[in-house]
Amino acid sequence: MHFLRKKRGQNPQLWRLLLAEKGYNGSIRMNSFNYYNPTRYIFGHGEYHNIGTLLQPIARKVLLHYGGGSIKRSGLYDAVTAALTTAGIAYCELGGVKPNPSVDLVRQGIELARVEKADCVLAVGGGSVIDSAKAIALGTTHHGDIWKLYTREEQQSTRPLPVATILTLPAAGSENSPNTVLTHEQSGRKLGYGHESLRPTLSIVSPELFLTLPPEQMAYGACDMLCHIFERYFTNTQGTELTDALCEATMRTIMQQASILRREPTNEHAWGQLALAGTIAHNNLLGLGREQSWACHGLEHELSAVYDVPHGAGLAVIVPSYFEAVWSANPGIFAQWSTNVMGVTPSRDTERVIKEGIARLRAWYRELGLPQTMKELGIPADADYGAMAHAAVATYGSRLGTDTLPGVRPLNEAAAEAVYRAAL
Ligand code: NZQ
Ligand code: ZN
Repeated sequence: MHFLRKKRGQNPQLWRLLLAEKGYNGSIRMNSFNYYNPTRYIFGHGEYHNIGTLLQPIARKVLLHYGGGSIKRSGLYDAVTAALTTAGIAYCELGGVKPNPSVDLVRQGIELARVEKADCVLAVGGGSVIDSAKAIALGTTHHGDIWKLYTREEQQSTRPLPVATILTLPAAGSENSPNTVLTHEQSGRKLGYGHESLRPTLSIVSPELFLTLPPEQMAYGACDMLCHIFERYFTNTQGTELTDALCEATMRTIMQQASILRREPTNEHAWGQLALAGTIAHNNLLGLGREQSWACHGLEHELSAVYDVPHGAGLAVIVPSYFEAVWSANPGIFAQWSTNVMGVTPSRDTERVIKEGIARLRAWYRELGLPQTMKELGIPADADYGAMAHAAVATYGSRLGTDTLPGVRPLNEAAAEAVYRAAL
């Protein structure tokens, strides 16, 4: 009650919103958790030049993994290979990771790591490169088929090779997350896999590396980070005051810094703030003790799998229509977000507050140049939304043993399909 008395003094409307709709009663408490985050996280201008020295204690030969060429154009490839050579660390390399990374390239990487006896995978790139590197690290020691870990047909029984990262795109949060997402192109499936052993051993974030990013990648990244917090923040769990506040501060930071970068794409300070927020958004600090949703990610991964759209762009289309479908199941948390993050003036008219919050989110997406509809995303009105809803519910529901997408209001297949269709 002390928290509420204090908060009521600051904001009487919030007191009412919380009491009336979130139901605080003094006996509530957050869920238990067990958090382990062993990634060494190195932030600062030029820090990537130290990659050789940093890897010396853990690697003798690394598999250097990268994407379609941005690191060669920027000169980062030359800097990294020089640092490895100076530190006496041998390397083999595999480039060509595509956005929405494919299992086929991962299989080549596993073969290469085994033949070359690599003892570490160094990812230099964005989320796709890091996710692909995690899969190679996992598959090199795994005795079965890497894709069957993602489909849950096989279990992980070995420790992956260590993964180190140099981040070139702040977005997915893979530099500190225990997750990896892969696309199996033949079956059109995009699936995630998570295990504590997949948090990178070390990650380097040098914000000047982001200055070459085109504006749309900044926007996709900011949208993705924000959604990583939405999936955690919009919960029915009560007694989450600290993580509510951490989530709200991180959401505000992402929105402010992305708006600055829209106007000033070479503002290195803003890139640094955005990148740190993006890491925190997905290393699960903000999700501690809370029931989480991941419904928007479930719905979006189907769009990326079938139509190969950028993950952040797909989320910008899904999120507002998802919010409209679920907010009435827990108006308290949506009103809290609208006032504390979106700056809507508190009022007794909760519905108006929430709708204004969602309208402001749409306006921010527009300001960043993000798509708002399936059409703008390039997905036709006659797409098989029913099949995508079925796949999303099957993937995300089955993990929890339900036939619904989890969240403040669980969505069955028909409701999930309606979220897609509301975005047409
Ligand atoms: O391939 P290159 O030439 O490097 O170009 C990339 C790519 O075309 C380019 N790029 C990266 N850094 C650059 C740059 N261009 C210029 N200058 C730079 N400094 O950006 C393009 C997109 O890169 P990508 O890695 O695909 O983007 P992002 O970081 O957004 O990653 C998206 C992937 O991460 C997954 C997504 O589903 C998607 O597959 N996610 C992974 C998560 C995780 N592991 O925890 C969680 C997320 O929710 C997400 O699902
Ligand atoms: Zn995401």
